[in-house]
Amino acid sequence: MDTDEETYILESDKQRLNSRLVFAFFSCVIGSSFVFGVHTGVVNLPQTKIEQFLNETELHRTGHHMTQSKITLLWALIVSIWAIGGMIGGVNAGYFADKLGRKKGLLLNNILTFLAVILFGFSKLALSYEMLIVGRFIAGIQCGISTGIAPLYLSEVAPLKLRGAAGTLNQLAIVFGVLISQIIGMDFILGTDKLWPILLSFPVIAAILQLLTFSLCPESPKYLYINKNDRYAAIRALQWLRSGDSFEEELQDMQIQGESCENTEKMSICGIFTTKWLRRPIFISIIMQLSQQLSGINAVIYYSTQIFRKTAHLTQTASQFASIGVSVVNFIITAISASLVDKAGRRYLHLLGLGGMFCAACALTTSFLWEVHWHFMSYIAIVATVIFVCSFAIGPGSIPWFIVAEMFSQNTRPAAVSIAVLTNWFANFLVGLCYPLIQDEIKVYSFVPFIVFLGCLWIVIYFVLPETKGKTIDEISNYFRIMSNGSGLLSTTEEE
Ligand code: GLC
Repeated sequence: MDTDEETYILESDKQRLNSRLVFAFFSCVIGSSFVFGVHTGVVNLPQTKIEQFLNETELHRTGHHMTQSKITLLWALIVSIWAIGGMIGGVNAGYFADKLGRKKGLLLNNILTFLAVILFGFSKLALSYEMLIVGRFIAGIQCGISTGIAPLYLSEVAPLKLRGAAGTLNQLAIVFGVLISQIIGMDFILGTDKLWPILLSFPVIAAILQLLTFSLCPESPKYLYINKNDRYAAIRALQWLRSGDSFEEELQDMQIQGESCENTEKMSICGIFTTKWLRRPIFISIIMQLSQQLSGINAVIYYSTQIFRKTAHLTQTASQFASIGVSVVNFIITAISASLVDKAGRRYLHLLGLGGMFCAACALTTSFLWEVHWHFMSYIAIVATVIFVCSFAIGPGSIPWFIVAEMFSQNTRPAAVSIAVLTNWFANFLVGLCYPLIQDEIKVYSFVPFIVFLGCLWIVIYFVLPETKGKTIDEISNYFRIMSNGSGLLSTTEEE
């Protein structure tokens, strides 16, 4: 795709980040992406405490201790049922985004956060690990919905020039959530025998904050104009969001998109697969999600404390600090990538990140292998983990979440987002469930499957992913239409 960027830096170049836009971004991500991050990271540190609770509950109910294999199984269920909820929420995210709107969809989603934290908060008191399991499931549905709608809202309210940065903000909030959950999950803060239910209930604060702040922000102007056909409301939303900057071109662009949407039908999930020119972007969207999850990032995010303890033989406290250190680095590099993504481009950063992860995973495996002979190898393992996470943060962390919204027009976007989010959560679920089993089975080789996935997915992405930086949705759509008639990888063998 070699389009002249000069064309797009007319009005959009004048549109700057203003305090209202920052406020809208913040209030969008606080109850969605941030909460997703908290739920992701929260299970890493207090694992032993919660396992102890499982054991105590069993003892209280039956008079016997729980077997280690049952504890392992229940723990894996607590971790991974969240991702099953995520799949259910994710596949319905597009529907809610369209039916309720982006703003109302996100606001109402907080009801699920309240439900989940009630279950978490009282599980210990009620001596019921079932409440914990159901709570994680509901929290998963909530997160699935937000991982679909939040990137949509962010990319629809951001000016073209800031679209990538706005998308990266979603990931920044996720990573911040992971970091905060790990800090407050330390043994001497909320990660104690008594306080872990409060730790799990922490997202309630974020939900309240979102209700208070996001209600003051406008709905996505694109949704108002194109979906609701309400030009006047879209103008009011843009006036608020652009805070004095002109938005004539943006409005014209919405009008063009609106007209082209009038001529095409709203696309269903099946429709996306059966429409020839949409197969390539949906294939790319799926591959991008797989590259994010099958890179093994969540093996590190969920289990880093355990990896450091068991495989690199650090003490419990040292492992906890090492895990937090990894999250700090993740946060810093994600923040840096937000300023790079609209300059260096999505394709370059994503490939660079995956390549770095591949090398770091090789180094990590080598250090696990040699750790028995040379103790200093446990430090190499930490360095390799940090490089692994840095590489993830450069691109694979944020880009898959927002690139889907960039590749599809208003009529096809919700269905495409649902497919992509479902794929992401499914792969997340697989890694969450299988990694502990893989670790038990093949021990020091536990990162080898990720090395293979990283290598294969890098090659596929190298050949199929176009650059979307600075392009309008119309241009990106046209590119895929042309590819489907011409030389695209998917197009030559398929029919309309
Ligand atoms: C991305 C992934 C998520 C992961 C997180 C870690 O948001 O989607 O699964 O836990 O990054 O930073």
